[in-house]
Amino acid sequence: MPVPRPPKPDPRQLLPRDAYVGQDWFDREQTELFARAWLFAGLVTDVPAPGDYLSVMAGREPLVIVRQADGRLAAFLNICRHRGVVLLEGRGNVAAGISCFYHRWHYNLDGSLRGVPQAGQFPGVVADKARFGLRAASVGEFNGMIFVNADPAPAETLGQWLGRVPDDWGPWRPAELFELPASAIEVAANWKLFIENHVDGLHLWHLHARSVQGLDHDRQYWVARGRHWMFYEPESVAGSIPERRTIRLPAIPGVDALRYGSSVYMLFPNIGIAAGVTFLAIFVVTPLAPDRSRVSFRTFVKPIVVQDFIDDPGLAESLGASAGQLSLGSAAAGDAPFADRLEAAARAGDFVAEDKLAAEAVQRALGSRRFAVGPLASDYEAAITFFQRNLQDFIGDWSG
Ligand code: FES
Ligand SMILES: [Fe+2]
Repeated sequence: MPVPRPPKPDPRQLLPRDAYVGQDWFDREQTELFARAWLFAGLVTDVPAPGDYLSVMAGREPLVIVRQADGRLAAFLNICRHRGVVLLEGRGNVAAGISCFYHRWHYNLDGSLRGVPQAGQFPGVVADKARFGLRAASVGEFNGMIFVNADPAPAETLGQWLGRVPDDWGPWRPAELFELPASAIEVAANWKLFIENHVDGLHLWHLHARSVQGLDHDRQYWVARGRHWMFYEPESVAGSIPERRTIRLPAIPGVDALRYGSSVYMLFPNIGIAAGVTFLAIFVVTPLAPDRSRVSFRTFVKPIVVQDFIDDPGLAESLGASAGQLSLGSAAAGDAPFADRLEAAARAGDFVAEDKLAAEAVQRALGSRRFAVGPLASDYEAAITFFQRNLQDFIGDWSG
């Protein structure tokens, strides 16, 4: 039987259906994009002391960032030079050096090989230890945030990669803020659908009609900063957000009235940032499979000090009432019918849950051979094309 021909997509939808469902595309992104891009790994405050480490995946490249004795950061391929196990998991401290659990090869913090047990078994190694250090990767910092690149000599430095992003960043300094408990959700959708939704300014009126209020979507604008996207929209009524907000956290120092709206960024390829008067949230969308992703959130607020309770006598009460409002995305969980989950997300004001439901609904539609993206909004969805063009720079026009 002939396969039905899909309708012609909007020419500004640059990626084919296969980009969202194909294993070949997924594999290519892992090696051509994620193993070459600067990726968010954590904050400098995650690894304050010598020997503190942070392990992270760059596509399929396991990397580890290690705080050196002199305070600098170094990044390595997190693979033992003996039989190749992944050395370190998660976060921790290896002040005494990195010792492989398998046969106890031992590395200094700078990645050089310190020694191997039963040295007589490895005459070539002992004679030429300098050749068996951990393979280098690249690490950089911006505003207290650590970025890592699997390539020891990336085509662009972190400074080149970020370009003018630092000029437009605003007053948020995550490493100086207080971190709320981290959370993560799994999304049954390709990672690009979550990012494309993140840079879509059109759905704010519709999908988030009830969950996102008090912002003037008509006055939204975005700018391209290199491959990155920076968005801002003001409050609908100037000065209303601090009064209206349900979680009455203290304002972050330096966030002036102009920033009382919503500042939202996307650092290519998979980092989302949302910032307001009281918070900064960073999320990373990690591809797990063509149709499955993990979204990990870290949220930062001003450290609350005694003065804040003096300034706002209702603060203690509102903090108590806010418990449970911070695990974004959870309102969409469970086996309830789709419409009920959508309603629960709107009622909870859980716009992340709404985004998850939308991305998953597109992914289900992508199963159809007749799937095609229709006309995109001229302005409010233009950033989707922008994102896809940047992706093509890494993946090419390759169509599987
Ligand atoms: S694999 Fe690491 S010491 Fe053998
Ligand atoms: Fe959204």
